[in-house]
Amino acid sequence: MRSLITGLEFSTDEYFEILNLAKDMKNNPAKYRTNLQGKGIVSLFEKPSLRTRITFEMGMYRLGGHSVYLDQKNGEFGTRETVTDYARNMSRWCDGIVARVFENKTLVDLAQHGTVPVINALCNLYHPCQAFADFQTIAENYDDLSKVKLAYFGDGNNVTNSLLITGAKCGTDVLCVCPKGNGPDVQVYEAALEVAKKTGAKLAVTDDPMAAKGYDVVYTDTWVSMGDDTPLDKVKAKFMPYQINSKLLNDTGIKHVLHCQPAHREYEITSEVMDGPCSIIYDEAENRMHAQMAVLSTLLNQGV
Ligand code: CP
Ligand code: NVA
Repeated sequence: MRSLITGLEFSTDEYFEILNLAKDMKNNPAKYRTNLQGKGIVSLFEKPSLRTRITFEMGMYRLGGHSVYLDQKNGEFGTRETVTDYARNMSRWCDGIVARVFENKTLVDLAQHGTVPVINALCNLYHPCQAFADFQTIAENYDDLSKVKLAYFGDGNNVTNSLLITGAKCGTDVLCVCPKGNGPDVQVYEAALEVAKKTGAKLAVTDDPMAAKGYDVVYTDTWVSMGDDTPLDKVKAKFMPYQINSKLLNDTGIKHVLHCQPAHREYEITSEVMDGPCSIIYDEAENRMHAQMAVLSTLLNQGV
Protein backbone atom coordinates (compact mmCIF):
# COMPACT_ATOMS: atom_id res chain seq x y z
CA MET A 1 0.00 0.00 0.00
CA ARG A 2 1.67 3.23 -1.13
CA SER A 3 1.47 6.49 0.79
CA LEU A 4 2.69 10.04 0.21
CA ILE A 5 4.70 11.05 3.25
CA THR A 6 8.02 12.48 2.04
CA GLY A 7 7.57 12.71 -1.72
CA LEU A 8 10.53 10.38 -2.19
CA GLU A 9 8.07 7.49 -2.63
CA PHE A 10 7.37 8.39 -6.27
CA SER A 11 9.70 8.06 -9.26
CA THR A 12 10.34 10.88 -11.71
CA ASP A 13 7.97 9.20 -14.19
CA GLU A 14 5.27 9.03 -11.50
CA TYR A 15 5.77 12.73 -10.67
CA PHE A 16 5.07 13.61 -14.28
CA GLU A 17 2.10 11.22 -14.41
CA ILE A 18 0.57 12.94 -11.37
CA LEU A 19 1.29 16.42 -12.76
CA ASN A 20 -0.25 15.46 -16.12
CA LEU A 21 -3.29 13.96 -14.42
CA ALA A 22 -3.71 17.13 -12.32
CA LYS A 23 -3.61 19.21 -15.51
CA ASP A 24 -6.22 17.01 -17.19
CA MET A 25 -8.44 17.06 -14.10
CA LYS A 26 -8.28 20.86 -14.15
CA ASN A 27 -9.06 21.08 -17.88
CA ASN A 28 -11.65 18.26 -18.12
CA PRO A 29 -13.38 18.01 -14.74
CA ALA A 30 -16.45 16.16 -16.11
CA LYS A 31 -14.25 13.15 -17.02
CA TYR A 32 -13.45 12.52 -13.38
CA ARG A 33 -16.80 12.98 -11.61
CA THR A 34 -17.03 9.32 -10.58
CA ASN A 35 -13.31 8.63 -10.26
CA LEU A 36 -13.56 8.00 -6.49
CA GLN A 37 -17.25 7.17 -6.28
CA GLY A 38 -18.07 5.26 -3.10
CA LYS A 39 -14.70 6.06 -1.54
CA GLY A 40 -13.94 8.22 1.45
CA ILE A 41 -11.05 9.80 3.34
CA VAL A 42 -10.66 11.02 6.86
CA SER A 43 -8.64 14.22 7.22
CA LEU A 44 -7.01 14.80 10.58
CA PHE A 45 -5.62 18.20 11.45
CA GLU A 46 -3.40 18.90 14.44
CA LYS A 47 -2.78 22.45 13.14
CA PRO A 48 -4.97 25.11 11.48
CA SER A 49 -5.61 25.16 7.72
CA LEU A 50 -7.59 27.03 5.09
CA ARG A 51 -6.29 25.79 1.74
CA THR A 52 -5.39 22.20 2.57
CA ARG A 53 -8.60 21.37 4.37
CA ILE A 54 -10.90 22.93 1.80
CA THR A 55 -9.03 21.59 -1.23
CA PHE A 56 -9.05 18.01 0.08
CA GLU A 57 -12.77 18.22 0.87
CA MET A 58 -13.72 19.86 -2.42
CA GLY A 59 -11.36 17.56 -4.32
CA MET A 60 -13.02 14.44 -2.89
CA TYR A 61 -16.45 15.90 -3.67
CA ARG A 62 -15.45 16.61 -7.27
CA LEU A 63 -14.21 13.04 -7.71
CA GLY A 64 -17.49 11.60 -6.39
CA GLY A 65 -16.08 10.63 -3.00
CA HIS A 66 -16.55 11.83 0.57
CA SER A 67 -14.30 13.45 3.18
CA VAL A 68 -14.69 13.41 6.97
CA TYR A 69 -12.84 16.11 8.94
CA LEU A 70 -11.47 15.50 12.41
CA ASP A 71 -9.77 18.24 14.40
CA GLN A 72 -8.22 18.26 17.84
CA LYS A 73 -11.45 19.27 19.58
CA ASN A 74 -12.37 15.62 19.24
CA GLY A 75 -9.55 14.67 21.61
CA GLU A 76 -5.85 15.19 21.10
CA PHE A 77 -4.45 12.79 18.52
CA GLY A 78 -2.60 9.91 20.22
CA THR A 79 -3.88 10.93 23.66
CA ARG A 80 -7.56 9.92 23.64
CA GLU A 81 -6.36 6.67 22.10
CA THR A 82 -3.07 5.57 20.54
CA VAL A 83 -2.06 6.48 16.99
CA THR A 84 -2.01 2.72 16.32
CA ASP A 85 -5.67 2.40 17.27
CA TYR A 86 -6.59 5.50 15.26
CA ALA A 87 -4.94 3.91 12.23
CA ARG A 88 -6.53 0.49 12.72
CA ASN A 89 -10.04 1.91 13.24
CA MET A 90 -9.92 4.45 10.44
CA SER A 91 -8.64 1.85 7.99
CA ARG A 92 -11.86 -0.13 8.52
CA TRP A 93 -14.05 2.77 7.32
CA CYS A 94 -11.93 4.92 5.05
CA ASP A 95 -9.97 4.41 1.85
CA GLY A 96 -7.30 6.95 2.76
CA ILE A 97 -5.99 8.98 5.70
CA VAL A 98 -4.98 12.60 5.14
CA ALA A 99 -3.13 14.07 8.11
CA ARG A 100 -1.54 17.39 9.10
CA VAL A 101 0.65 16.68 12.11
CA PHE A 102 3.38 18.18 14.25
CA GLU A 103 5.76 15.24 13.98
CA ASN A 104 6.56 13.28 10.84
CA LYS A 105 6.71 10.12 12.99
CA THR A 106 2.93 10.26 13.47
CA LEU A 107 2.48 9.82 9.71
CA VAL A 108 4.95 6.95 9.66
CA ASP A 109 3.04 5.28 12.53
CA LEU A 110 -0.31 5.79 10.77
CA ALA A 111 1.07 4.17 7.62
CA GLN A 112 2.64 1.33 9.57
CA HIS A 113 -0.45 0.42 11.57
CA GLY A 114 -3.16 1.31 9.05
CA THR A 115 -3.98 -0.57 5.88
CA VAL A 116 -4.90 2.39 3.65
CA PRO A 117 -2.73 5.07 2.00
CA VAL A 118 -1.60 7.98 4.21
CA ILE A 119 -1.24 11.42 2.65
CA ASN A 120 0.93 14.05 4.35
CA ALA A 121 -1.03 17.31 4.57
CA LEU A 122 2.04 19.01 6.18
CA CYS A 123 4.34 17.97 8.99
CA ASN A 124 7.48 19.43 10.56
CA LEU A 125 9.62 18.19 7.65
CA TYR A 126 7.52 18.08 4.48
CA HIS A 127 4.57 19.57 2.61
CA PRO A 128 4.49 17.32 -0.47
CA CYS A 129 0.94 18.17 -1.63
CA GLN A 130 1.91 21.83 -1.68
CA ALA A 131 4.92 21.04 -3.86
CA PHE A 132 2.82 19.12 -6.39
CA ALA A 133 0.59 22.20 -6.75
CA ASP A 134 3.64 24.46 -6.96
CA PHE A 135 5.14 22.46 -9.81
CA GLN A 136 1.78 22.23 -11.60
CA THR A 137 1.69 26.04 -11.45
CA ILE A 138 5.25 26.37 -12.72
CA ALA A 139 4.45 23.94 -15.55
CA GLU A 140 1.52 26.17 -16.56
CA ASN A 141 4.04 28.93 -17.27
CA TYR A 142 7.06 27.00 -18.58
CA ASP A 143 6.98 24.18 -21.14
CA ASP A 144 9.98 22.27 -19.79
CA LEU A 145 10.48 21.89 -16.02
CA SER A 146 14.07 20.76 -16.58
CA LYS A 147 14.92 24.24 -17.91
CA VAL A 148 13.35 26.17 -15.00
CA LYS A 149 15.40 27.82 -12.25
CA LEU A 150 13.52 28.22 -8.98
CA ALA A 151 14.83 30.27 -6.04
CA TYR A 152 13.33 29.85 -2.56
CA PHE A 153 13.85 32.84 -0.24
CA GLY A 154 13.51 32.93 3.55
CA ASP A 155 13.29 30.29 6.24
CA GLY A 156 14.37 26.78 5.25
CA ASN A 157 11.34 24.76 6.39
CA ASN A 158 8.90 21.97 5.45
CA VAL A 159 7.90 23.80 2.25
CA THR A 160 11.56 24.30 1.27
CA ASN A 161 12.34 20.63 1.87
CA SER A 162 9.47 19.52 -0.38
CA LEU A 163 10.50 21.97 -3.11
CA LEU A 164 14.00 20.46 -3.05
CA ILE A 165 12.66 16.92 -3.36
CA THR A 166 10.17 17.82 -6.09
CA GLY A 167 12.72 19.92 -7.97
CA ALA A 168 15.17 17.02 -7.82
CA LYS A 169 12.53 14.60 -9.11
CA CYS A 170 11.43 16.90 -11.96
CA GLY A 171 14.92 18.05 -12.99
CA THR A 172 14.30 21.66 -11.91
CA ASP A 173 17.14 23.71 -10.41
CA VAL A 174 16.34 24.84 -6.85
CA LEU A 175 18.40 27.46 -5.04
CA CYS A 176 17.63 28.03 -1.35
CA VAL A 177 18.46 31.59 -0.31
CA CYS A 178 18.29 31.59 3.48
CA PRO A 179 20.01 33.41 6.33
CA LYS A 180 22.90 31.45 7.84
CA GLY A 181 21.51 28.87 10.28
CA ASN A 182 18.08 28.82 8.60
CA GLY A 183 18.79 26.51 5.67
CA PRO A 184 16.74 23.44 4.74
CA ASP A 185 16.96 20.20 6.73
CA VAL A 186 20.41 18.70 6.06
CA GLN A 187 19.22 15.10 5.70
CA VAL A 188 16.43 16.03 3.32
CA TYR A 189 18.84 18.18 1.30
CA GLU A 190 21.25 15.24 1.01
CA ALA A 191 18.43 12.89 -0.04
CA ALA A 192 17.34 15.42 -2.68
CA LEU A 193 20.95 15.73 -3.94
CA GLU A 194 21.01 11.95 -4.47
CA VAL A 195 17.81 12.15 -6.55
CA ALA A 196 19.17 15.15 -8.47
CA LYS A 197 22.18 13.12 -9.63
CA LYS A 198 19.76 11.10 -11.78
CA THR A 199 17.75 14.01 -13.22
CA GLY A 200 20.46 16.65 -13.54
CA ALA A 201 18.68 19.18 -11.31
CA LYS A 202 21.10 21.60 -9.66
CA LEU A 203 20.36 22.18 -5.98
CA ALA A 204 22.20 24.71 -3.84
CA VAL A 205 21.98 26.72 -0.63
CA THR A 206 23.31 30.25 -0.15
CA ASP A 207 22.73 33.31 2.03
CA ASP A 208 23.32 35.71 -0.87
CA PRO A 209 20.07 37.04 -2.45
CA MET A 210 21.92 38.10 -5.60
CA ALA A 211 22.80 34.46 -6.30
CA ALA A 212 19.26 34.32 -7.72
CA LYS A 213 20.09 36.71 -10.56
CA GLY A 214 18.79 35.26 -13.83
CA TYR A 215 16.40 32.85 -12.07
CA ASP A 216 12.86 32.38 -13.42
CA VAL A 217 10.67 31.88 -10.37
CA VAL A 218 10.97 33.02 -6.77
CA TYR A 219 9.12 31.39 -3.88
CA THR A 220 8.73 32.40 -0.27
CA ASP A 221 6.92 31.28 2.87
CA THR A 222 6.43 32.56 6.40
CA TRP A 223 9.55 33.28 8.44
CA VAL A 224 7.98 31.48 11.44
CA SER A 225 6.09 28.21 10.91
CA MET A 226 3.06 26.88 12.78
CA GLY A 227 3.95 25.52 16.18
CA ASP A 228 6.69 28.13 16.74
CA ASP A 229 5.36 31.04 18.84
CA THR A 230 8.19 33.46 18.04
CA PRO A 231 6.65 36.82 17.00
CA LEU A 232 7.48 37.78 13.39
CA ASP A 233 8.83 41.14 14.56
CA LYS A 234 11.48 39.33 16.57
CA VAL A 235 13.01 37.74 13.46
CA LYS A 236 12.29 40.65 11.11
CA ALA A 237 15.81 42.12 11.13
CA LYS A 238 17.39 38.76 10.25
CA PHE A 239 14.96 37.93 7.45
CA MET A 240 14.25 41.35 5.90
CA PRO A 241 17.13 41.02 3.38
CA TYR A 242 15.22 37.99 2.04
CA GLN A 243 11.89 39.76 1.54
CA ILE A 244 10.29 39.37 -1.92
CA ASN A 245 9.80 42.93 -3.13
CA SER A 246 9.92 44.90 -6.39
CA LYS A 247 13.60 45.72 -5.96
CA LEU A 248 14.47 42.01 -5.78
CA LEU A 249 12.45 41.31 -8.93
CA ASN A 250 14.16 44.20 -10.74
CA ASP A 251 17.65 43.28 -9.54
CA THR A 252 17.33 39.57 -10.42
CA GLY A 253 15.06 39.70 -13.47
CA ILE A 254 12.78 37.07 -11.91
CA LYS A 255 9.42 36.86 -13.74
CA HIS A 256 7.14 34.74 -11.52
CA VAL A 257 6.38 34.70 -7.80
CA LEU A 258 4.97 31.85 -5.71
CA HIS A 259 3.91 31.72 -2.04
CA CYS A 260 2.21 28.74 -0.40
CA GLN A 261 0.19 31.10 1.86
CA PRO A 262 -0.86 32.11 4.45
CA ALA A 263 1.16 35.22 3.58
CA HIS A 264 2.34 37.86 6.01
CA ARG A 265 2.17 40.94 3.85
CA GLU A 266 5.04 43.41 4.26
CA TYR A 267 7.10 40.73 6.02
CA GLU A 268 8.25 37.92 3.70
CA ILE A 269 6.45 39.49 0.72
CA THR A 270 5.19 42.98 -0.10
CA SER A 271 1.58 43.58 -1.13
CA GLU A 272 2.92 45.26 -4.26
CA VAL A 273 4.45 41.95 -5.41
CA MET A 274 1.71 39.69 -4.05
CA ASP A 275 -0.97 41.66 -5.94
CA GLY A 276 1.28 42.52 -8.89
CA PRO A 277 1.68 41.10 -12.41
CA CYS A 278 4.42 38.58 -11.51
CA SER A 279 2.30 36.87 -8.86
CA ILE A 280 0.90 33.44 -9.75
CA ILE A 281 0.07 32.85 -6.10
CA TYR A 282 -3.70 32.42 -6.47
CA ASP A 283 -3.28 30.00 -9.41
CA GLU A 284 -0.99 28.10 -7.08
CA ALA A 285 -3.70 28.04 -4.40
CA GLU A 286 -6.29 26.83 -6.92
CA ASN A 287 -3.93 24.10 -8.05
CA ARG A 288 -3.79 22.67 -4.53
CA MET A 289 -7.16 21.13 -5.34
CA HIS A 290 -6.27 19.76 -8.79
CA ALA A 291 -2.90 18.40 -7.65
CA GLN A 292 -4.41 16.71 -4.61
CA MET A 293 -7.21 15.23 -6.72
CA ALA A 294 -4.50 13.62 -8.87
CA VAL A 295 -2.70 12.33 -5.75
CA LEU A 296 -5.96 11.00 -4.27
CA SER A 297 -6.94 9.28 -7.50
CA THR A 298 -3.48 7.72 -7.86
CA LEU A 299 -3.31 6.43 -4.29
CA LEU A 300 -6.95 5.49 -3.65
CA ASN A 301 -7.31 3.67 -6.97
CA GLN A 302 -4.21 1.52 -6.39
CA GLY A 303 -4.84 -1.97 -7.74
CA VAL A 304 -8.16 -0.97 -9.34
N1 CP B 1 -0.50 26.38 2.06
C1 CP B 1 -1.23 25.74 2.99
O1 CP B 1 -1.00 24.57 3.32
O2 CP B 1 -2.25 26.49 3.50
P1 CP B 1 -3.15 26.10 4.76
O3 CP B 1 -2.23 26.09 5.95
O4 CP B 1 -4.19 27.15 4.84
O5 CP B 1 -3.72 24.73 4.53
N1 NVA C 1 5.96 26.53 6.71
C1 NVA C 1 4.58 26.83 6.99
C2 NVA C 1 3.71 26.39 5.86
C3 NVA C 1 2.25 26.74 6.01
C4 NVA C 1 1.42 26.22 4.88
C5 NVA C 1 4.17 26.17 8.29
O1 NVA C 1 4.55 25.02 8.53
O2 NVA C 1 3.48 26.82 9.08
